[in-house]
Amino acid sequence: MTAAHPVARTVGLAKAFGAHQVLAGVTLELSEGRCTFVAGPSGTGKSVLVRHLVGLLKPDAGEVWYKDLRVDVLDEEALLGLRRRCVYVFQHPTLFDSMTVTENVALVVKYHKGVKAAAAEGLARAQLDRMGLSRLAESRPPELPAGEQKLVSLARALALEPETLILDEPTTGLDPYAAFEIDAHVRRLKELGVTLLVISHDLQSIRRLADEVVFLFDRKVRYEGGVDGFFHSADPVLDQFVHARVEGEI
Ligand SMILES: Nc1ncnc2c1ncn2[C@@H]1O[C@H](COP(=O)(O)OP(=O)(O)OP(=O)(O)O)[C@@H](O)[C@H]1O
Ligand SMILES: [Mg+2]
Repeated sequence: MTAAHPVARTVGLAKAFGAHQVLAGVTLELSEGRCTFVAGPSGTGKSVLVRHLVGLLKPDAGEVWYKDLRVDVLDEEALLGLRRRCVYVFQHPTLFDSMTVTENVALVVKYHKGVKAAAAEGLARAQLDRMGLSRLAESRPPELPAGEQKLVSLARALALEPETLILDEPTTGLDPYAAFEIDAHVRRLKELGVTLLVISHDLQSIRRLADEVVFLFDRKVRYEGGVDGFFHSADPVLDQFVHARVEGEI
């Protein structure tokens, strides 16, 4: 898959933690305005891979690019600028338990957009309203079920109006209704032309939303291409991943 306009890309990325080689030569390209799903068994390095895209990890070898920025050599100040444009929503929500939902969203807006507290709160409330989440405005994260915490994390990211959004397992562990609600927001973002990278094992979400699929396995990209090719691959590794899950869902 060679993207006509790659927004973000890694070239030959390698990363080890001690003796554990997690990634060995991973090349990935995100096309502008497309929704790329990254799938693969647990522990295969999906989160490690995407953390490189926003400079949270430095590769041992290879390059990371965001448009014309060489991400792996950026200093912390430049990385902050990058993280306003390319927002990473962590696998596990990182909300402050002692703050309300509005305060959580406003804090990030204030920090990244450099606006005053009152303006940040206004923007936070507007974002919650746009996503139909005003009912949660005064709640605190520990009071909310997992699906609503994930929605709040998404609202916090979207309040920054990112051009690229990376969602790390946004529906994992959620009931089908909550997962559907998250997917509906992802679909709207697609329609708005936001470039998306979604890490997910959720085959329903892949079918519903993916333009491209990347399958990571054994430190490398095992498959990259369209959704049909992913679901109908002759590769036994992919076939097992896809069909074991499908049978498990029935
Ligand atoms: N900071 C770290 N230090 C040491 N090992 C790490 C670190 N971060 C990740 N790893 C290891 O790298 C491997 C890949 O981790 P990663 O979180 O990327 O997997 P994943 O594909 O996202 O899995 P999951 O589907 O469970 O989220 C794991 O074995 C993990 O323990
Ligand atoms: Mg992960």
